[in-house]
Amino acid sequence: MKAIRGATTIIEDTPAEIRSAVKELLDEICLKNFLLEDDILCILFSNTSDIRSFYPAKAAREAGYSSPALFSSAEPEIEGALPLCIRVMLLVENCQDVRHVYLRNAASLRKDLQKFSIALDGPSGSGKSTVAKLLAKKFNILYLDTGAMYRACALKAISAGVDMQDNSAVSSLMQTLDLKIVYSEGSQHTVLDGKDVSEDIRRPEVSMAASKISALRCVREKMVEMQRKIASEQSCVLDGRDIGSFVLPKAEFKFYITASSKVRAKRRYDELKAKGFDVDLDSLQKEIEERDRNDSTREFSPLKQAEDAVLVDTSDMTVNEVVQTICAKIQEKV
Ligand code: DC
Repeated sequence: MKAIRGATTIIEDTPAEIRSAVKELLDEICLKNFLLEDDILCILFSNTSDIRSFYPAKAAREAGYSSPALFSSAEPEIEGALPLCIRVMLLVENCQDVRHVYLRNAASLRKDLQKFSIALDGPSGSGKSTVAKLLAKKFNILYLDTGAMYRACALKAISAGVDMQDNSAVSSLMQTLDLKIVYSEGSQHTVLDGKDVSEDIRRPEVSMAASKISALRCVREKMVEMQRKIASEQSCVLDGRDIGSFVLPKAEFKFYITASSKVRAKRRYDELKAKGFDVDLDSLQKEIEERDRNDSTREFSPLKQAEDAVLVDTSDMTVNEVVQTICAKIQEKV
């Protein structure tokens, strides 16, 4: 059994307004949580004491919620409380990922539910993606791996036999790019020309090619536009090189995650070994250093720490320590 919370507000204390606000709130909760009426065991309402003209529970019954048990109560009068507010809690079955719903200006009750972005920038192998995935899970928001998008562009260029440094050839290739980022079962899939390439883009030769192709303005402009669109539609954590400095300069939370090249090479080595790739630690470290140079010296939107980003050096930290450090900084700010 799970509990789903929600709230809404009305403008005037009239039965008609209460009926319509309660119906809107319950319908939205069902829609967002893929609920059928039979999944709802009970609905508990509470409303501020300035609502007297009608019971929200009765409005729910009238709106067609006939099987769940219903209950309404009035809240004590508390100074400074959001006025004319109806809160609800649903106890439900068959709901995997709970989505709480705060409508109208009741959204101001939940700072944590307002749309926000977390920008995680830093060099390859700093642990950004592991941390980003955990943060996304913790805050129940989307994770956008922007490196995967540049990797997909590189894969396309490799398959087409296009030279990564040939600006005009890459530019025309970009015109025909069919790249989609889709989410299934909570993880990101990179779909290139209709094919799921999420695994292919992790091949070592694609890493270096991605670093080269991502230096081109024609590539970056296209990717940045997609990234901004995705981030404008929902709360998300994005990891990359230029998220806090260029893609989302107004991101609510910015972190720059780094670690020594030695530590990063060892992490990549373990990761690739586990996937069955035959790799050499020293050459991985050299490659990482070369990618750092490419990424931070390119002319357009290079890898850099945004002025207002918090620096986290993960060389001697466990993943959990990094996540805890970031969460603590986020809590400090909200
Ligand atoms: O994070 P990654 O290793 O998957 O990224 C692959 C390459 O893409 C990396 O060398 C730099 C580039 N990149 C970028 O330039 N800007 C981003 N926002 C993300 C990645």
